Amino acid sequence: MENKTNLEFNSIYTVDVVDINTDGDGVCKIEGNVVFVSNALIGENVQIKIIEQKNAFAIGKVHELIKISPDRTEPFCPYFNECGGCSLQHLKYEKQLEFKKNQVANALKKIAKIDFPVSDCVSSTPFYYRNKIAFNISKNGKVALKKRNSHENVEIDNCLITQTWVQDLINILNEYIEVSKIKIYDEHKNTGLLKNIVVRAVDDSLLITFAINGNTLPKTDLLIPLLKSKFEKFGVNININKMKNQIILSNQFQHIYGLQTLKCNDFDIEYEISSGSFMQVNDLIKNKIYKEVLDNIFFSDIVIDAYSGAGLLSAIISNKCKECHGIEIINQATKDAEKLKKLNNISNLFNHNGDCAEILPKLVRQFNNNDLVVVLDPPRKGCERNVIDTLNKLECKKIIYISCNPQTLSRDLSLLTQFYKLKSIQPYDMFPQTQHVETVVILQKK
Ligand SMILES: C[S@@+](CC[C@H](N)C(=O)[O-])C[C@H]1O[C@@H](n2cnc3c(N)ncnc32)[C@H](O)[C@@H]1O
Repeated sequence: MENKTNLEFNSIYTVDVVDINTDGDGVCKIEGNVVFVSNALIGENVQIKIIEQKNAFAIGKVHELIKISPDRTEPFCPYFNECGGCSLQHLKYEKQLEFKKNQVANALKKIAKIDFPVSDCVSSTPFYYRNKIAFNISKNGKVALKKRNSHENVEIDNCLITQTWVQDLINILNEYIEVSKIKIYDEHKNTGLLKNIVVRAVDDSLLITFAINGNTLPKTDLLIPLLKSKFEKFGVNININKMKNQIILSNQFQHIYGLQTLKCNDFDIEYEISSGSFMQVNDLIKNKIYKEVLDNIFFSDIVIDAYSGAGLLSAIISNKCKECHGIEIINQATKDAEKLKKLNNISNLFNHNGDCAEILPKLVRQFNNNDLVVVLDPPRKGCERNVIDTLNKLECKKIIYISCNPQTLSRDLSLLTQFYKLKSIQPYDMFPQTQHVETVVILQKK
């Protein structure tokens, strides 16, 4: 690989941390080279070791903290230095919220040249918030998560940002893997069976999905009693995933025991979540975001809920507007949304399965733009250009953009603000202890 920095591998430097990047890593400059250092805060003076050379920058590891920031706190997780899951545990929680507000404001300024007041980031419970986790399995056959800056795994026996069921579950999964002698998948050789285990929780019910490079999970007669010894309500599925890529779940699920879905109730809507459909990971923040969306919708509105997932938000919206149309690309998620519609007897909700880039332009033509409110909640890559261009041509009444990526949000807003004016920008801490931030932006026709 071409080496554009002139910093030697394993060399030691003492440096000031001058910034913090979008990954939550400290930024240092050595002889004109940029070095990113995890677990280093602005204002700190640290001794670092160069551990990796990339083309335009190097990666350093803290060797010794010399001057410590008053914003630093003791990371509570024993795996913090290794695990790639959390990058901000060493930053006091109130400072994490400031960091996230600044991330949004800086991205908007830099990418979209938008200088608009960003509200303070809405806080969450800082730990035990995640209702979902996707485990890797180490070569030794232990439950693991991905190591930071690496393709290796770190074996874990707990995850303190995931809800409290996780520790018992990890013990059980480790025992099952050991006694069943299930072969662990090797991505280099494309051999072995067990790839990942994905778990979702609602209240005290769990849905456990084994992603396997095969058709059957061995020794389920060992697994089920182990799970029963700790959990009352659970379901087990396999996901047949023979793809040679990083995608964890294919769309081929097979139910093998217990619950097939998780039953939930939010905003007086009953719904069921299956293993394949999207669900926001932090229930408290999800509800706060949905409340902000609802506050911006009125009874005469026709709402398009683009990127609608399993349809909960569309259903909640439909209770408050004239009619609502959800658009979702994953077949199973649209099926869940249809089930939800029937379960709750909602007559003014219409679920469309397909790509927003194709469906949204056709759908909007049916309505008067002055009645239309469009909710956008795309994945990290943001909205398709065709969706943005359609909205700009249409000039609908209001856009409510929910984003999990300030960079793609800024890219899309740089285009949308030519035809819509910004009303508010509200970050939410959906993912405490990590660098990620969720943002709700309200735009109105100019
Ligand atoms: C961030 S999730 C939002 C889900 C939902 N609004 C919620 O609150 O649960 C994004 C959703 O967009 C879907 N998606 C991704 N690309 C899409 C596309 N081009 N067209 C339609 N849906 C898409 C994903 O499958 C996922 O369910």
